[in-house]
Amino acid sequence: MALSLDAHLQAIWQKLTHAVSTRSPFTLMQLASVTGNAQPKLRTIVLRDFSPAPASLLFTTDARSAKVQEMRANPHVSLLGWDAENSLQLRLEGEACRVDERELRHAIWQTLRPSAQQLFHSPYSPGTILDAPEAACAGHASASLTDPPENFALIRIIVKRIELLDVSADPHQRCEFLLQAHGWAGRWLAH
Ligand SMILES: Cc1cc2nc3c(=O)[nH]c(=O)nc-3n(C[C@H](O)[C@H](O)[C@H](O)COP(=O)(O)O)c2cc1C
Repeated sequence: MALSLDAHLQAIWQKLTHAVSTRSPFTLMQLASVTGNAQPKLRTIVLRDFSPAPASLLFTTDARSAKVQEMRANPHVSLLGWDAENSLQLRLEGEACRVDERELRHAIWQTLRPSAQQLFHSPYSPGTILDAPEAACAGHASASLTDPPENFALIRIIVKRIELLDVSADPHQRCEFLLQAHGWAGRWLAH
């Protein structure tokens, strides 16, 4: 049965809320940024938190990584997810900014596994050329893992546009939601 625009939007909020608490299709998303020489760059990230009002997502990253420099210079980003079980493609567009709220940084840091926390103590910036993969493990500082180190960056994406493509439906359904002063305005699109 075809869903209404509003039902699609509510389903998107539900799926994103679910994605940050349980491994589900949108827990991992592809994040695109734009490099300094206007080239698109994609990578996988883990959604760590989601809030529907205002719509925003959080992910963690190493402050030394290329994406942090890219998003500082050009905050426009796009995220893409694919829910294979329900045949849904979700595209989110918005602006990224670094979050320095102490309590939130601590709270998210505490949810990381020790092995993930350890990565932020590496003396090697992400993308450093190594002689061999094992070299990345050498020289890790045995710093306290209680507090987030400087390299631990929290990035918030304020979502401004959402696009859903449902290829389980016949005919396929494609719609977009644009953030306006009074809320989200949805409309159907040709696919
Ligand atoms: C399953 C998976 C999850 C990942 N999650 C993250 C993440 O949450 N944050 C992150 O910075 N990198 C994550 N990565 C690594 C990135 O995809 C990327 O390789 C790395 O951050 C370097 O990206 P950059 O050079 O564009 O900054 C993940 C990779 C995989 C395969």
